[in-house]
Amino acid sequence: MDKLLIAGGVPLAGEIAISGAKNAALPLLCAALLTREPVTFTNVPHLNDIGTMLRLLAQMGVKVNRENSKIPAGTQSVGAGDALKEVPLGDTVTLDASGLNNAVAPYEMVKTMRASILVLGPLLARAGEARVSLPGGCAIGARPVDQHIKGLTAMGAEIAVEQGYVHAKAARLKGARLFTDMVTVTGTENLMMAACLAQGETVIENAAREPEVVDLANCLVAMGARISGAGGDVIRIHGVEVLHGATHRIMPDRIETGTYLCAAAATGGEVRLTGTSSAYLDAVIDKLMDTGCEVISERDAIRLKAPPRLTATSIRTAPYPAFPTDMQAQFMAINAVAEGTAVIRETIFENRFMHAVELIRLGADIRIDGNTAFVKGVPKLDGATVMATDLRASASLVIAGLVAQGETLIERIYHLDRGYEGLESKLAALGARVRRVK
Ligand code: EPZ
Repeated sequence: MDKLLIAGGVPLAGEIAISGAKNAALPLLCAALLTREPVTFTNVPHLNDIGTMLRLLAQMGVKVNRENSKIPAGTQSVGAGDALKEVPLGDTVTLDASGLNNAVAPYEMVKTMRASILVLGPLLARAGEARVSLPGGCAIGARPVDQHIKGLTAMGAEIAVEQGYVHAKAARLKGARLFTDMVTVTGTENLMMAACLAQGETVIENAAREPEVVDLANCLVAMGARISGAGGDVIRIHGVEVLHGATHRIMPDRIETGTYLCAAAATGGEVRLTGTSSAYLDAVIDKLMDTGCEVISERDAIRLKAPPRLTATSIRTAPYPAFPTDMQAQFMAINAVAEGTAVIRETIFENRFMHAVELIRLGADIRIDGNTAFVKGVPKLDGATVMATDLRASASLVIAGLVAQGETLIERIYHLDRGYEGLESKLAALGARVRRVK
């Protein structure tokens, strides 16, 4: 298994491009199941999870055409550090689901990526049936899909859960008034996609307001769906008979953006991130400014200049537009070396502090009490061998490794490859001393 070796202590400086958003791309690729016509996506990130989703769709009979669009480094400033051979840019992916012939998402594919559940709604709406493996648990929590099932059942689907699979059937889904017990991002996305082809109107109350939900709604409308209210907590969908093809550009990855901003903040650096914006990061930027960072928003970029030492800043995760749970681990890393004590409350997932024990191995002073972490900033961290446990926990270990004195070796970095495109080449472009070792 690959490992990442980081020689810490270098303030990040320079400019890199942000990739398309993983959590927008995953539901968008599933939306192609809703039509017989080709759907083209641009700015698709090179990520393991995207590859998994494309393989899952291909085994259903979807034709997948993927063009790598890399440009030579010379045509894009890659900032200080090693000049990159090529700067990975988003792919263009065209999906044609006219030949859909196998409405099954098998366990061996679903177990590696929970987002596979996002094929359930579209398959039911398009093919009238689906057999989707239950995702099973995940490192950060049980993450059940009961709200997805509850909503589809309310729309008339007959759903049985047996032998670890969701078996669903529906001649034609009917519009319904749906209320999810808690805000669920992929639950909202699954139900919104299913409702596009249902008979009549569907209202989703307590809907997720995440920007990725809006990006999906925008693409569905371009395909002929009738959706209003996306981005708010009540989404209305009027079902139509068919959807047609479209071309859609994946929105920038706000969590990748926030992660590099935190890396620059923790290392006392100054960076410019292009192909992104501060539009969907207000809560994160507010907190970065509380730590003493200067954050300048441009139309298609964002810049951060860190102070010599950060000030500890407490956070509480909650659904958008509040502070995102996907940025909690990164903020624990920056608070580990900030002046003062921060209180971090994780309200979304029940087990999302696994990075804490690894940060403690690097010298952090953290005490966990239930879903609250007390982080007392220390003057410095010391490099050590640590282990990644989930995607965002890995990102927090990278940030800590960039700050720590000496070398940090991060094991099991396949977690990172799921959600961060070209991580070490982007960090190297910002001057970090990082390399992948087998
Ligand atoms: C999405 O996961 C994201 N993944 C996650 O990002 C993100 O952390 C999460 O939303 C919260 O923002 C994708 O978009 C692909 P939820 P999702 O349904 O949809 C409970 C990353 O690092 N719940 O909003 O699976 C659930 O257990 C990943 O990129 C139920 O109980 O999250 C959790 O406690 C990690 N029953 C809470 O709701 C359900 O049917 C929020 O989960 C659904 C959810």
